[in-house]
Amino acid sequence: MEFNIKSGHPEKQRTACVVVGIYEPRRLSEVAKQIDDVSGGHISSILRRGDLEGKIGQTLLLHNVPGTLADRVLLVGCGRERELGDNQYRKVIAQAIRTLHETGSMETVCYLTELNVRGRDTNWRIRHAIETAQATLYTFDQLKSKKNITRRPLRKIVFTVASRRELGLAEQANRESQAIASGVKLTKDLANLPSNICTPTYLADRAKALCTLHESVSCEILEKGQMEELGMHSLLAVAKGSNEDPKMIVLEYKGTEDKKAEAPVVFVGKGVTFDSGGISLKPSQDMDEMKYDMSGAATVLGVMSAVAELRLPINVVCLIPTVENMPSGHATKPGDIVTSLSGQTIEILNTDAEGRLILCDALTYAERYKPDAVIDIATLTGACVVALGSHAHGLLSNHNPLTNDLLNAGRLAGDKAWELPLWDEYQPSLDSPFADIANISDGRSAGTITAACFLSRFTKKYHWAHLDIAGTAWKSAPKKEKGATGRPVPLLVQYLLTRCFEDKRMTPTPMLPEESDS
Ligand code: BES
Ligand code: MN
Ligand code: ZN
Repeated sequence: MEFNIKSGHPEKQRTACVVVGIYEPRRLSEVAKQIDDVSGGHISSILRRGDLEGKIGQTLLLHNVPGTLADRVLLVGCGRERELGDNQYRKVIAQAIRTLHETGSMETVCYLTELNVRGRDTNWRIRHAIETAQATLYTFDQLKSKKNITRRPLRKIVFTVASRRELGLAEQANRESQAIASGVKLTKDLANLPSNICTPTYLADRAKALCTLHESVSCEILEKGQMEELGMHSLLAVAKGSNEDPKMIVLEYKGTEDKKAEAPVVFVGKGVTFDSGGISLKPSQDMDEMKYDMSGAATVLGVMSAVAELRLPINVVCLIPTVENMPSGHATKPGDIVTSLSGQTIEILNTDAEGRLILCDALTYAERYKPDAVIDIATLTGACVVALGSHAHGLLSNHNPLTNDLLNAGRLAGDKAWELPLWDEYQPSLDSPFADIANISDGRSAGTITAACFLSRFTKKYHWAHLDIAGTAWKSAPKKEKGATGRPVPLLVQYLLTRCFEDKRMTPTPMLPEESDS
């Protein structure tokens, strides 16, 4: 898809379709008014006849509108003007894009980016329009023998800004959102792949491919033998039951030599390419979804792709511990005790709590970078799905400023996280009579928090945050929309953008009371 930015009168656009908004009830947006004026009231007379109320999701495609140069004009319902917030705006954009794609317009000039969205500026509107458009048109059909081919697909979208003064900012937003959107697409594609294709070796190959694409990224793969020498026995314990070789993928991006900005941000992504549970076998219902258990790994690759594309002036390291968790005669058994890279011994009471076992060794490995911050991303606990559902990532951290930066980035990116407490009170539930720590807590309560408590034993030497994405990384229903979401790539890239360019442009508006439930 090609995206461009432009400023100009709607009636003068020579294009397949001009898109404008209609508010409820039957009220013209600013740009719709301009077309109405040049067409001698063509649009307002259609609205009077009752063809379009202006509710969100409604559309009306007009041909040969007098006084305009476009083949078509698409009217899109935007709901009540005062109620146009983040989610409504994204719905409006998505509906417009779907309609264009299905009705034969191969290019469009879309004026919906000039709508007033509560508390948001031009940069935000352009960014979210482009990211929403890409998400709307996403399909995963690489494994279907017959592809769904649209005869006249949408190929080029021009989004508009109200004045030429805004063109510079909007171009920057265009660049940023395209990088984020292609990162999201990479993440979705990887996560949607089944585990017979997407193995640890496959992930390592895709990481190498990313380095070939970008000179600023280098890649090293730690093989099983090297991990044994290092002493990553916690990670290796998870891989033991599988015929697939484990890997530890290390990607380094160098965007600055500036001494002050040199300490890298390290991302650690859980890369369990299939989680059967191991000897603590999972029930068979919905077990297919455990192919998504490498969504954390897919996320960090998506973030790395966006960072490299944007050439951000920052240093970033991605660590991906990747394994397959299977039962077999070689598999780790409940009660087994291993020594982690940190030297701490772990009693593995449940082989299905495997994510923390691979993450802890990667988190210890992260120490060697003297990082400015470490953020791990993992589909870690079913309890997080119970607590937060599919809207917010679980966020736990040992450093308040980092928590706030991530919460703010999530709000700005429309990819929200919510904090859960990482209090000392929860720690003793991980005590083991035989080892330094057990890999599960002794009760069933607060599963997301106790999982983070486990990780916190390995992150004492730096500022660290943990994102539990078990509920947000993929959608299960409805069935035809089942698939990876590409989250939290937008949150993490926004976090880095804000770090790099802390100017007013990207400062999030303070959270309004109404926003907490939007
Ligand atoms: N990958 C799962 C977590 C998960 C479950 C993600 C369902 C998405 C949907 C993780 O490895 C796991 O099995 N966690 C266990 C931990 C328990 C044994 C302490 C869980 O959540 O049940
Ligand atoms: Mn598991
Ligand atoms: Zn898992």
